[in-house]
Amino acid sequence: MSANRPAAVVVLAAGEGTRMKSATPKVLHAICGRSLVGHVVAASRELSPEHLVVVVGHAREQVTAHLAEIDAEVRTAVQHEQNGTGHAVRMGLEELSGSGVALDGTVIVVCGDTPLLTGATLERLASAHATDGNAVTVLTAEVPDSTGYGRIVRDAASGAVTAIVEHKDATDAQRAIREINSGVFAFDAQLLTDALGKVRTDNSQGEEYLTDVLGILREAGHRVGAAVAGDHREILGINNRVQLAEARRLLNQRLLERAMLSGVTVVDPGTTWIDATVTFEPDALVHPGTQLLGATHLAAHSEVGPNSRLTDTTVGEGAVVSFTVADRAEVGAGAGVGPYAYLRPGSRLGAKSKAGTYVEMKNASLGEGSKVPHLSYVGDATIGDHTNIGAASVFVNYDGVNKHHTTIGSHCRTGADNMLVAPVTIGDGAYTAAGSVITKDVPPGSLAVARGQQRNIEGWVARKRPGSAAARAAENAHQDNQSDQ
Ligand code: UD1
Ligand code: CA
Repeated sequence: MSANRPAAVVVLAAGEGTRMKSATPKVLHAICGRSLVGHVVAASRELSPEHLVVVVGHAREQVTAHLAEIDAEVRTAVQHEQNGTGHAVRMGLEELSGSGVALDGTVIVVCGDTPLLTGATLERLASAHATDGNAVTVLTAEVPDSTGYGRIVRDAASGAVTAIVEHKDATDAQRAIREINSGVFAFDAQLLTDALGKVRTDNSQGEEYLTDVLGILREAGHRVGAAVAGDHREILGINNRVQLAEARRLLNQRLLERAMLSGVTVVDPGTTWIDATVTFEPDALVHPGTQLLGATHLAAHSEVGPNSRLTDTTVGEGAVVSFTVADRAEVGAGAGVGPYAYLRPGSRLGAKSKAGTYVEMKNASLGEGSKVPHLSYVGDATIGDHTNIGAASVFVNYDGVNKHHTTIGSHCRTGADNMLVAPVTIGDGAYTAAGSVITKDVPPGSLAVARGQQRNIEGWVARKRPGSAAARAAENAHQDNQSDQ
């Protein structure tokens, strides 16, 4: 738990985000497997706050439902009209006091659209705030282009922060300042509550600015401090989809660097995309053009890619998965998947098993050492150990109304081009002949043959296609045979 455990974190997420030009509320847009607000909530959780409140407004039903899904402990406060960041924080604090919470200690305020902000930076802010004994500490950053941001105004002599001036309210001299307000603050809870009551709306936007709290506290003789973020990109706020893509790229890069430093080989970070929730063991290897999503896990010495997309899929130790799309699949240790395989939900591959080229599986388990090497569909099936499924086989699982199950034992050899019409069971050690349509159970150890008998009609070509190239070829073959004798 954090040494500077805050009394509350208030996340501001009531704004509409019109510049996204989207039917989806801005904070619900996702990068690296989490919504924007989901990243902020995850970073806030690292501080172990006593209370976590998200201020919602625009599309609040949708945002509230999403929050309940990702974090059952999150509380929401409704801001019916977006009257400014100060007003939003007031709504958050009133939600808590209204339900009998008396805040004592630090309140951290963050924006719901800054997905790159880390728990570590919030920790540094909280610790600077505590160490310096400030009434308020603002997280600032030096940015290359400060257009649109609130500027940090410092006293020329002492360097102390005197005010934050919004871009729209700033003078030309103030607009030249490159140190900006990140929108992240640590406040003393009681002083914040008192100061918010004094914030006015006589500014260019007619809003209650949270930033005015700094001037109010300073004039009342309290300590106002600043903590400068190490990397200005961390406080990037998302306003449009260009910034969304930029944040995704930066976060992806950060996640890949963390993976590489923990012992994962990433051949081409530029074409590898991973979610924040993906986990690795050392010596996993990721080839170019690969997306690893959701709760995907790569065990030690496993190899994934190139050109694969794995969602919520576990890849066992030493397994090799190439040119594959997998969703909610389990790939056992030493197994091989692809090239060109599609593992749909419920595909479970045992140790050293194989789902090879152009193989699709769904809700099907393959026992240890069993193989489906080529061109097959395996749906709704249980296959034992060390069984081989012939090329171009189809598990006929659907009768147009219901799905049915196929069970195949261990050490079986099914022939190429089989249709296994479910429900059907093939016993241990059984064989089936190539081209069979298996509709009845096959007892252990037997050979099932289910196909038309072959008959050869001698001389058919000479009679029906006289003078054709085929007829001449056949005639030559007969003569060769005779002269050989
Ligand atoms: C704000 C800051 C500015 C800072 C910038 C950093 C103020 C007055 N200005 O400006 O100094 O540099 O953030 O990105 O605080 N929100 C609400 N309710 C409201 C208004 C805003 O919940 O009534 C939320 C928004 O959804 C957003 C955040 O607060 O998540 C910031 O609001 P926004 O309108 O983007 O503020 P800026 O003008 O960017
Ligand atoms: Ca903003």
